[in-house]
Amino acid sequence: MTEALTVTELTKRYPGARRGTSVVAASGVSFALAAGESLGLVGESGSGKTTVGRMIVGLTRPDAGTVVINGRDRREIRRGRRARLQRAGEAQMVFQDPYGSLDRRLTVEAALGDVLRRHRRGTAKEGIRRGVATLMDRVGLASSLAASRPHEMSGGQRQRVAIAKALAVDPAVLVLDEAVSALDVSVQAQILALLGEIRADSGVTLVFVSHDLAVVGEVTDRIVVMYRGLAVEHGTTDDVLRRPRHPYTEMLLSSAPGPDWQPERVAELRAAFAGTT
Ligand SMILES: Nc1ncnc2c1ncn2[C@@H]1O[C@H](COP(=O)(O)OP(=O)(O)OP(=O)(O)O)[C@@H](O)[C@H]1O
Ligand SMILES: [Mg+2]
Repeated sequence: MTEALTVTELTKRYPGARRGTSVVAASGVSFALAAGESLGLVGESGSGKTTVGRMIVGLTRPDAGTVVINGRDRREIRRGRRARLQRAGEAQMVFQDPYGSLDRRLTVEAALGDVLRRHRRGTAKEGIRRGVATLMDRVGLASSLAASRPHEMSGGQRQRVAIAKALAVDPAVLVLDEAVSALDVSVQAQILALLGEIRADSGVTLVFVSHDLAVVGEVTDRIVVMYRGLAVEHGTTDDVLRRPRHPYTEMLLSSAPGPDWQPERVAELRAAFAGTT
């Protein structure tokens, strides 16, 4: 099988608040995605979604388990500049708050130019300039914004810059951690449409980390539901949303306010579910 991303038995514990205790942020999480597939990683706050996302891109080191991207184990130690760049090109992550990943002092042009220069060393100035223009165009940023700094842009524009920075290295896998959660619904829709186009053009594999089932339902092929570090359900988006097999998924679905939202049903499921664990 030609899988772009294979996650096997990923496990991570953190020290707990009290001495001698630990929190299981992820436990035996496994799934695989083909190139160009899109996965939603959902679950309540603290279920371990971000931890799994960070382990995929290499920001957090798993205690156990493996992440393989295009046949290469992320644990493999690779030395030298080329190897580091190759590794960066395997997976990138975009966070909810682009202020965290954008340097406040840098204009869009400078920020994107920096990444391109690092990754395409030896490229002439003109080449970098063209590269920046291409990236801005890909994420739908008007060229007039080239000289803008983060605080001079809207939240949606900032998030487009963050996505452009991630795309600069042409990643095989892009993890989006609540990347549209802080945006207005209309801007959210635009960014999701943009990501859909990027996926179609580049074949990038997308992992949407989100607590928002409505968003995930629209943009993913498959869903993994996490509960207390465990992947309790995994299936096609259609199956998981329409025919949930795990009571926790059913609870998540009913706790999302929608046209047929029933608060009593949520309370009932919550109580039933709490009893099963
Ligand atoms: N760096 C850390 N140190 C200690 N504990 C951590 C750390 N990162 C995460 N945790 C704990 O691991 C568990 C999973 O956290 P994680 O951030 O992965 O959840 P999440 O599903 O992304 O939640 P949210 O929806 O709130 O973002 C939580 O109990 C959290 O407190
Ligand atoms: Mg999180």
